[in-house]
Amino acid sequence: MHDKMNELKTEALAAMAQAPDETALRDQQVRFLGKKGLVTGLMKELPSLAPEARASFGKEVNELKQELEAAFEEAVRQRHHASLMKALETEGFDPTLPGLRQEQGAIHPLSKIQEEIEDVFVSMGFIVPDYPEAESEFFNFEAANIPATHPARDMQDTFWLEGPGSYLLRTHTTPGQVRAMREFKPPFKAIFPGKVYRYEAVDASHEHTFHQVEGLLIDRDVSVANLIHSMKTLLREIFKRDMTIRLRPGYFPFVEPGFELDIRCTVCEGAGCPVCKHSGWVELLPCGLVHPAVIRHGGLDPEVWKGWAFGLGLSRLVMMRYGINDIRQILGGDLRFAAQLSRI
Ligand code: DAH
Repeated sequence: MHDKMNELKTEALAAMAQAPDETALRDQQVRFLGKKGLVTGLMKELPSLAPEARASFGKEVNELKQELEAAFEEAVRQRHHASLMKALETEGFDPTLPGLRQEQGAIHPLSKIQEEIEDVFVSMGFIVPDYPEAESEFFNFEAANIPATHPARDMQDTFWLEGPGSYLLRTHTTPGQVRAMREFKPPFKAIFPGKVYRYEAVDASHEHTFHQVEGLLIDRDVSVANLIHSMKTLLREIFKRDMTIRLRPGYFPFVEPGFELDIRCTVCEGAGCPVCKHSGWVELLPCGLVHPAVIRHGGLDPEVWKGWAFGLGLSRLVMMRYGINDIRQILGGDLRFAAQLSRI
């Protein structure tokens, strides 16, 4: 081998042996083998060689390059291993510590129950339109036949929006009824799920934001019997069993007659607990036959078109199904809540 090459090889091997760590080794590697490195620099001597000697010189430089390349990689591997072993000894590695775990997301119980309800109704031919959360005073109250004196109109109950017009965060999903009547040609049946808002003092059973599903069926011949049948089907699908229910008369300005459908409390099975306010029953589903005034606001003739409607509180339903005794957990944002319940 060319003298110069031998020198460089010896020099490189010595530098490798002396490099204290991986970084120093990489620096040396660049110094010898980089584009402007010492070994590459040997090629500059080619023009000064006799033409017949050039080919073998070039070949030898390449062989040296490959040899040193391999030696550097091996040295880096050894340094890396050595520093790992040193860290294990000195830093006290504890192999029993848990590893880093990737958190997995989960469907929130509210979304899950809402999707189930949508599936049940869609399979019965219902449509699922979407209506605004920022609603006009007209649709939220007027169109739902809610008189100016009704307590739901109280400033205390409602988040009013600033700006032009009388807008508010809808206090219920009922405004969708008149919107749907104006949007779809009767007969039709629809559910509209969504968030609703009330200016409430928050406690174990009240939230300022909660979820409802409104149901509406408009047809020529609609009876309370139709309504009850649909509600029973819904509850059986949701709770996966026949539910104990009772019906009481209930007053809502937008229905006549109106009912409160109660179910036996599933948290305490009727024994009494904070969720059912110690009565053993939970108001689950207010419902009724749509009031003629509401039908008229929808642009339909109440002599021809009738309807039934219900308003289902989703948060309540989630609490019942999973035995949750504090509504604040539902929107509390603790990831463990959703992750735990999604497996049930
Ligand atoms: N909108 C009522 C509320 O939020 C619930 C309701 C009651 C809806 C009776 C209905 C109904 O459709 O028929 O309190």
